[in-house]
Amino acid sequence: MKFTLTKTLTLLLCAFVLSACLKDEVDVSISHYTKEELQTLSQYLDLPEFRDRYRVDLADHLKNRGAVTPAINDAKATLGRVLFYDTKLSLTEETSCASCHDQRLAFSDDKAFSEGINGQLTKRNSLPLAATANFSSSYDDPSSFGGTVGFFWDERARTISGQSELTIQDDIEMGMDLDDLTVRLADVDYYEVLFRRAYGDEAVTKDRILTAIEEFVNAFVSTNSPFDEGMNMVGLQDQDFPNFTDQENFGKALFMENCASCHPSDMSTPIGRNVANNGLDLVYEDKGMGDIFPDGAFNGVFKVPFLRNVELTGPYMHDGRFETLEEVIEHYSTGIQNHENLADELRDANGNARQFNFSQEEKAALVAFLKTVTDDSFAEDVRYSDPFKK
Ligand code: HEC
Ligand code: HEC
Repeated sequence: MKFTLTKTLTLLLCAFVLSACLKDEVDVSISHYTKEELQTLSQYLDLPEFRDRYRVDLADHLKNRGAVTPAINDAKATLGRVLFYDTKLSLTEETSCASCHDQRLAFSDDKAFSEGINGQLTKRNSLPLAATANFSSSYDDPSSFGGTVGFFWDERARTISGQSELTIQDDIEMGMDLDDLTVRLADVDYYEVLFRRAYGDEAVTKDRILTAIEEFVNAFVSTNSPFDEGMNMVGLQDQDFPNFTDQENFGKALFMENCASCHPSDMSTPIGRNVANNGLDLVYEDKGMGDIFPDGAFNGVFKVPFLRNVELTGPYMHDGRFETLEEVIEHYSTGIQNHENLADELRDANGNARQFNFSQEEKAALVAFLKTVTDDSFAEDVRYSDPFKK
C-alpha cells in the first residue's frame, strides 16, 4: 500500500515536471484555434474556427432500448477527419480512406472492387461505414448493448484502429509503413496544429494517428431514416408504420419474417447473426472466414452486413456481384445454393436450400422497404465531408 502510494506520487511528480517542460503544451479543452493556427490551417483546409462537435443524438427507439453512442473527443475526431481524407496516408499519395469510402455512398464505393495504389484492385467489395450505435466493436465488454461485431467481411479486425493499421499498411490499399507515415506527417504544418490541439503537443505517433481515425469513424452515426421515424412513432418493428406506404409496410413484414433472423430487425444493432453463409455459390473462390479458420466449417462464411443506407451502397455482397437490390432479392428468391455451410435459416424442412419464390409484388415490396433505411442527412453532413480545399 505504502509502496503504491509512493509510486503514484512519484509518477505524478514526473508527469508534472515533464508537462511543465514541454514547451508547446496547449490546453486541449479549448475549442477554437488561435489566429496563427487558423492561418496555417486555412491554407489547406476548410475547418470552422470553433471546431465541430461530433456528439450525435440517437433515434429515440434506439435510446429507449439502452443504446449509446461512444463519447467522441471533438479535437481527435477533427484530426481524424483530415487524416481520413488525406492522400498522404498512402505510399504513392494516390489514395485516402475516402477514395474507397465515399460519404455520398454512405462511405462505401460504387465499384465491385476499389482501386488502391498503382492501379491495383482490392480483393473484396468496400464496406459502408454508415454506422449506428456501437459501430465500434466492444470486445472488451461483450455484455454491452448490441453484442459485438468485428470489422471486414471476415471480421478479422476487432477495432477501427486495428482495421486502420491493417488498411494503411496493406500493399494494395495504401502500402504505407506506419513508422514512415509518422515521419512524413511530422513534416506537415497543418498536422502540427491538429496534433497539438488533439493531444496537447505535436508529436506524431502511430497510436495517435490510429486513435484519431478511430475517433472520426466512430462518430459516423446514421440514425435518421424514414425507418427510424416509424420506429420512433410506433416503437415496434412488427407493427405498421404510419409514415410508410402500404407497399413499404408489406415489405417490412416480409423482411421481419424472412431476413431479420440475420440482418438486425432494428436495422441498427448487431442483434441478429454476426456471420453466415447465405448460399451465393457451391464453391467459394474467396473463402471468407474460411481463410482464417482452415477446418472448413467457415468456408464461404462472411459478415452479415448492416443494411442501413443499403440503397446507396451497391454493388452488393463481398465481391460486389449484384448491381441492384432487385438482383439481391432474386438471389434469395430462387438462387440460394446448397453450400455445406449454408445457414439453417436459409434451408427448408428437408435441409435443402430454401427457395423463397417471392411474387413480383413481394419482391417490389422488399426493395421498397430496404429503401426506407436511407438517411440523407448522414450523406450530406458537412462534419463528415472532405475538409481539403480544392
Ligand atoms: C483502396 C480502397 C480502400 C482504402 C484506401 C480504404 N479502405 Fe476501408 N475497406 C475497403 C475494402 C475493400 C473493405 C472490405 C475489405 C475486407 O473485408 O477484406 C474495407 C473495409 C473497411 C472497414 C470495415 C467495415 C466493416 O463494417 O467491417 C472499415 C472500418 C474501413 N474499411 C475503414 C477504412 C479507413 C479508416 C481507411 C483509411 C485508413 C480505409 N478504410 C481505407 C477499401 C478501402
Ligand atoms: C442466414 C442469414 C441471412 C439471411 C436469413 C438473410 N441474409 Fe442477407 N446477407 C447475409 C450474408 C452473410 C450476406 C453477405 C454474404 C456475402 O457477401 O458473401 C448478406 C448480404 C445481403 C445483402 C447485401 C448487402 C451489402 O451491403 O452487400 C442484402 C441487400 C441482403 N443480404 C438482404 C437480405 C434480405 C432482403 C433477406 C431476406 C429475404 C436476407 N438478406 C436474408 C445473411 C443473411
